Amino acid sequence: MKDGVVLNINGDHYKFSLGDRRGQIPYSETLVQTLRDRIGLQGKLGPTLREKIGLTDPEPPLSCGEGFCGRCAVLIDGKAIASCMTLTSECGGKKIVTLEGLRNKKTGEPDPVVNAVLDYPGFICRFCTPGIIAASQSLFNQNPHPSESEIQAGLAGNYCRLEKICGIRTQLVAHLAKVSASH
Ligand code: FES
Ligand code: FES
Repeated sequence: MKDGVVLNINGDHYKFSLGDRRGQIPYSETLVQTLRDRIGLQGKLGPTLREKIGLTDPEPPLSCGEGFCGRCAVLIDGKAIASCMTLTSECGGKKIVTLEGLRNKKTGEPDPVVNAVLDYPGFICRFCTPGIIAASQSLFNQNPHPSESEIQAGLAGNYCRLEKICGIRTQLVAHLAKVSASH
């Protein structure tokens, strides 16, 4: 679309014109800005996620803004991508799935891999949880039975600020490896 972009987000289509005029999306706008400020998606799974892990932070899932922490990841054509490093103007024709889209539309129940992450009891502050959900879903999309080392590599881009204290990621890798072996 010339001077415009149509975004496919969680199966819904959003049409924007591109440019610097009021109401347009600047070519420099990042996807996390568009998702958060224009569409109102904040990386939540709705009531189920809130009930399960208490993720009630009203802030959108943006943290470092520099591609470092992985917290803002969304799935683009099935792969986890840092939305703070992705230009909205380049997302036309791609299938974008946010955390809100990783659930059954009728029941609201999170998808199985998401549930597996949510069932992990070791998260403490949950800062890293949105990014770990996206990274795990991306990994299982590409490899339904990842090994422990593949899970370790798949989560490597996600910063958990309590990892050094609690070893959360190491335990989560073992937890997901059981999920991988059980289906
Ligand atoms: S906020 Fe995007 S990677 Fe940290
Ligand atoms: S549990 Fe707090 S950052 Fe990972």
